[in-house]
Amino acid sequence: MHDYKLDIFNAAKDALQGLEYSDVTAADAFCDYCIPCFKFAKILRKSPAAIAVDAAAAIKIDGMKVEPLNGYLNFTVERSAFVANAFSSALGEYKPLVGKTVCIDFSSVNIAKPFHIGHLMTTVIGGALCKLYRALGATVVGINHLGDFGTQFGGLISAYKRWGDEKRLDERGLDELLELYVRYHNESEKDADIANEAREWSQKIESGDRFAVGLFDKFKSITLEQAKKVYDRLNIEFDSYLGESFYVDKVAGVESKLDAKKLLKTSDGAEIVELGDDMPPALIRRSDGASLYIARDLAAAYYRHENYAFDKCLYVVASHQALHFKQLFKVLELLGEPWASDMVHVSYGMVSVEGMALSTRRGNVLYLSDVLDAAVEKALAIIVERNPDLNDKNAVAESVGVGAVVFDALYDGRLKDKNFSLADALNFDGETGPYVQYTHARCNSVLNKADYKAGDVDYSELLDDAAYDVIKLLADFDDAVYGAAVKYEPSIVSRRLVKICQAFNRFYNADRIMCGGKTQAARLFLTARVADTLKYGLNLLLLDAPERM
Ligand code: ARG
Repeated sequence: MHDYKLDIFNAAKDALQGLEYSDVTAADAFCDYCIPCFKFAKILRKSPAAIAVDAAAAIKIDGMKVEPLNGYLNFTVERSAFVANAFSSALGEYKPLVGKTVCIDFSSVNIAKPFHIGHLMTTVIGGALCKLYRALGATVVGINHLGDFGTQFGGLISAYKRWGDEKRLDERGLDELLELYVRYHNESEKDADIANEAREWSQKIESGDRFAVGLFDKFKSITLEQAKKVYDRLNIEFDSYLGESFYVDKVAGVESKLDAKKLLKTSDGAEIVELGDDMPPALIRRSDGASLYIARDLAAAYYRHENYAFDKCLYVVASHQALHFKQLFKVLELLGEPWASDMVHVSYGMVSVEGMALSTRRGNVLYLSDVLDAAVEKALAIIVERNPDLNDKNAVAESVGVGAVVFDALYDGRLKDKNFSLADALNFDGETGPYVQYTHARCNSVLNKADYKAGDVDYSELLDDAAYDVIKLLADFDDAVYGAAVKYEPSIVSRRLVKICQAFNRFYNADRIMCGGKTQAARLFLTARVADTLKYGLNLLLLDAPERM
């Protein structure tokens, strides 16, 4: 596909000193491309408005109109050339990240803990980033860095031995584990014996005692079985489930590296790394010999670097762990690892449901699967009302209900705190997943009714404003995918999809599609491109695109 931005950049860079390629922005209401002139005012010692006027007179590009407007330089491409160019390459052909490897640590659930709504953001942002990077040609390693190490598992074994029962555990699974853990927690506060016993069990897990490890593995598979059901519903897969316990015996290797660089200090019997004035020291090992979270993360970082030779290693984790990742990356920097700068904490804000903050520690845990079920049930009721004759209503409701939750989570910038409302997420006329899915299904129904088959298209039939607005949004869809990946911001794609739907619905109302002849053929062709792009984009964001709704 021809790169108009590059034409503009090359033609304008002499007139506008300091111009960067990324200063050329795409598609707004007034033009096809534009350059805001505000940043040049200082260097050129002129007002942005005057800069735009002078630059417009100096810049000449074949087939493009250049106009100044209030400090902006507006570029308008000749429509027929633009349209032909927009359709000159197939969807998903753009692969700028071939040869790059990206590790994405996301979801990272904790064993014997519920998969609650607090895991929603890490799971869907991470899942979407995997798809976006893969679509751009990168090799992606999706990693579920399981929380499978800690003294609490000794407590759980002790509780199971005292009060548990195999049959009940098999029947009730995670619910039973949670109850046992709460009971352990309460009773160990009153009875020191229980805490001591728990400590012994947790040492036995570490030393490889068969009974302890066997039981712990069982807890692990109960947790993962439940998590995998959620992952299936969200169209998510992982390449690795190596958890914290895998790295325990690799911490010693990190300690020798730290030692060799004279970075390891002892403080009150504990091992620490000092990180300067603006950060507390990193605690590597406690005085009782236990390894710490950050030490296991350091070992994991080396393991990933050695095994995957990543170009980027992302950690999709809530903002409250910001200090942890700052410390982690700083230690690697002090160790002199050049790849320390390829590590990124992809942070995100808090999720609440109707104003209520959630955390596992309180009793009011909200399971993600329950939220998905509630959304599916509501979706089914809406579908039954809107389209009573639809086949496989249950499958469609599953796609729409789950999709509504996921799309909503991916619709705002990730750092923003979110207040989730099922009713808003399921509004078929709002800026929602169901709205995009419905528009996709509507395109399909138009194409089916017309018995559309791909054939020759006369692009000059698509030059009116309504059609052209749609085409502008399709033309640089690849840019949106690329921007979403490199800024770790799937909302760039979700927002673009909604815009395409809005523009398509305006086109649908303004231009009669079934008008016969080559105009009809061209309009059907555009409808098919919209359907394909919506489906492609929905899948990148983990959503299904039902053919009918
Ligand atoms: N399991 C941790 C939690 O739920 C998140 C782990 C994130 N990944 C990491 N490499 N530290 O808080």
